This record gives sequence, structure tokens and C-alpha cells, in this order.
Amino acid sequence: MGQCQCECRPGTPANDLSLLDPILEKYKDVPGSLITVLQQTQGIYGYLPKDAIAAIAQALDLKIAKIMGVISFYAQFRLAPNGKYLLMMCQGTACHVNGSEKVLEALTDELGIKPGETTEDGLFTLESVACLGCCSIGPEMMIQTSGESKVYGHLTTKSVRDIIRQIRRDHGGALK
Ligand code: FES
Repeated sequence: MGQCQCECRPGTPANDLSLLDPILEKYKDVPGSLITVLQQTQGIYGYLPKDAIAAIAQALDLKIAKIMGVISFYAQFRLAPNGKYLLMMCQGTACHVNGSEKVLEALTDELGIKPGETTEDGLFTLESVACLGCCSIGPEMMIQTSGESKVYGHLTTKSVRDIIRQIRRDHGGALK
């Protein structure tokens, strides 16, 4: 198990816009800084809250529609908070060769969501990623929760369902 390397702070109140002030102050007069501002904003809240987007539009003197266009173009940006468990299923070449597509299919079936979506109960967000850097143990998935991350390797369609069911059991959820 490794530590999460990202800088997001899950649970940061989305309505605390004062956290944005230093970023907006730093970049408000820097041309072409929108993506950096969006990345840093997402780093604070874990996603891009609507009010934060409005504040960015005002500070950078941009139309909200333009910002939304940039957000929808880049897969890295999220408009809703992640679930408690962020599942990053690798679809890189090495994992693909070892059957990651079937594992992802089992995952989407078990969860009832597609990559980029969050389950209704807010427990899981599923992402399909390019490479997690441990190709020798593919098919591979990383699960992040509460700032911790854990890698699962040599996944099968059965083992990935078992992992999800175990987490649901841990949370008192019903099995599908
Ligand atoms: S291709 Fe999956 S970890 Fe590299």
C-alpha cells in the first residue's frame, strides 16, 4: 500500500471560496493560465464547484461558457465530487494485453456505472487510466480513499467483483 501522491483535500468545503483567493490573485493577470487555475482549484476541492468556476470567470475576465468548454475537453477535470473510493482501472498497453478490458467490463457491471461516473450512493467513482506504472502486475487497479492508495494486481473478472463486494460489506451495503 502506498500513500496518495495527489494534493487534493477531500472534504474541503466547496462553499469556502476564500481558499481560491491566493490562486486567483496570483494568476488573474497571467495570460493562458486558465488550465493551471482549474488544476489548482481542483487540487483544493477535489473537483470544480460551480461557485468556484464563477469566481474564476470573474477574476480571469472569461466567460463561463469558455471555461466549461475547457473543462469538458480535458478528462482530468471533474464537476462533481468523487465517491469515497476512487477506482482507477488501468487500460494501458501492458494491462490491456493481459485482459484489463474484461476486468473493466466486470467492474462497470458490478458497479452499474461507466468510467467517469460515481455510484448513486456516493461510494465509488470509476476512472479508466492509461498506466499506473506497475505494468508487470497487470491487469491492475488503484483504489484511493481518505488520502490512502492501494494497488491491486493480477486482477480477474472474479477478483475485481470480490474487491467491490468486500468494500460494500465493510460499509454495510447490500450485495448486488
Ligand atoms: S499498463 Fe497498466 S500499469 Fe502500466
